[in-house]
Amino acid sequence: MSQQNLPTEINDKQRVANYAANLVEEGMIVGLGTGSTANYFIEQLAHRKQQENLQFTTVASSVVSTIKAQQLGLTMMAIEHLSQLDLYVDGADEVSPGMSLLKGRGFDLVKEKLLAKASAEFYVLVDNSKIVTRIGELFPIPVEVSPFSWQMVLRSLQQIGGAGDLRKNANGDGLAISSQGNLIIDMVFDASLNAEELNAELNAVPGIIAHGIFYQLATTIFIGDKGEIIVRN
Ligand code: A5P
Repeated sequence: MSQQNLPTEINDKQRVANYAANLVEEGMIVGLGTGSTANYFIEQLAHRKQQENLQFTTVASSVVSTIKAQQLGLTMMAIEHLSQLDLYVDGADEVSPGMSLLKGRGFDLVKEKLLAKASAEFYVLVDNSKIVTRIGELFPIPVEVSPFSWQMVLRSLQQIGGAGDLRKNANGDGLAISSQGNLIIDMVFDASLNAEELNAELNAVPGIIAHGIFYQLATTIFIGDKGEIIVRN
């Protein structure tokens, strides 16, 4: 047998993604997240469509997820036509004990949060590297702002004890631009502020389009942990 034909081991992200995709039911409207875990989910959905002729409609949270779903032949609808959906499935950067999330290390925060909020169920797919004791433990909190408002927003964030700056692009020679054409400020706050408090503080700052704290939005967390799947809800 050649090397290419050997069965390949799947990782924890792929395992939870496959598990969640197998929970999708006929006729559902399903929101597609963004990132490597969401990509596995999209692939398994495509597999089920092909193998079982399962009929469902998808809506994407980003350009990359749109293209991936299109290329795999999934039925799609534009987010503009939607006021609610059955299921949104996405990865996360951090998950805290109260099921708060940090998201947005990618660039598609705005649609991700819209879909998470509009969905009857929001499944979060992570491996155990994403489990933290508090939001902000591993990463700064992304705050998406219009280019014209970033200085005023940054000042407001500093007034509530935050420190941060505009995110750089991948080369480090310019600024990161979100899918919506906005800037991202990556902020660090005092560790004593919990997700509920930070969410409330950030929601109250004028000029923020969306921020990376997803508070009380997740309905179920699927955690891949060394071959096992742990379900929290
Ligand atoms: C996208 O903006 C993010 O919120 C992702 O959902 C998050 O970064 C998880 O990504 P991975 O699935 O690639 O770990």
